[in-house]
Amino acid sequence: MTEAVIELKDVSLTLGEGASSVQVLKGVSLDVTGGEATGIVGPSGSGKSTLLMVIAGLEKVDQGTVRIAGETLNGKSEDRIAAFRGRNIGIVFQSFHLIPNMTALENVAVPLELAGHLDPFGVAERELAAVGLADRVTHYPGELSGGEQQRVAIARALAPEPRILIADEPTGNLDQATGRQIADLLFAKARERGMTLVLVTHDPALANRCSRQVAMRSGRIETPPSLQAVPA
Ligand SMILES: Nc1ncnc2c1ncn2[C@@H]1O[C@H](COP(=O)(O)OP(=O)(O)OP(=O)(O)O)[C@@H](O)[C@H]1O
Ligand SMILES: [Mg+2]
Repeated sequence: MTEAVIELKDVSLTLGEGASSVQVLKGVSLDVTGGEATGIVGPSGSGKSTLLMVIAGLEKVDQGTVRIAGETLNGKSEDRIAAFRGRNIGIVFQSFHLIPNMTALENVAVPLELAGHLDPFGVAERELAAVGLADRVTHYPGELSGGEQQRVAIARALAPEPRILIADEPTGNLDQATGRQIADLLFAKARERGMTLVLVTHDPALANRCSRQVAMRSGRIETPPSLQAVPA
């Protein structure tokens, strides 16, 4: 797979109303090739999480075009985007976002069930085993360590076999050793399944493990110094 699976062209987005409105993305263009691992870095508030939300179709842009896995998201209804996201995009957040009153197994299986999957609990069990949690399936999130909760979240993201996995500071709430294990797991799964991985991180070591880094600043992608025009 070498075609661009993420194509953003001149994307701008303002969030908030009136005095609190902020132009969060200011003409962002980005192509990500299938199977690539991209690390998005940059200062707090530079628009990294918002960029991931745009890629996931969770934020609509004001200007520019968003083409993901060959489909243009501009102008699509919320329902169609949600269905598209379910098939194509897995998401992992810093704070896990598990449903507290569901077991690990249910957290992975229920979204599959809602999407009409034929064997949601069988798949969930296999995915949890694949992230090393075969003996934790009946635990509730509150009975799991942070690293284990993030493994459940990764199993949930991987279960629909998405082409794209996006992760917003996936190791941000974990100690260094656990964070490294979670990063190992994410990279291994992405490689095994030929997925495109886009992750946001403040950790230079994690960013360096990506095949490519994209630096954001104030809502724009910074041009690498090697590509900047040399002053006459
Ligand atoms: N709903 C909103 N209304 C107004 N401004 C917003 C809204 N959501 C985000 N912003 C602003 O957009 C900017 C970018 O936010 P974003 O969360 O994308 O940054 P980030 O790069 O992920 O930062 P961090 O590293 O701290 O997570 C911030 O200045 C934020 O205050
Ligand atoms: Mg963020």
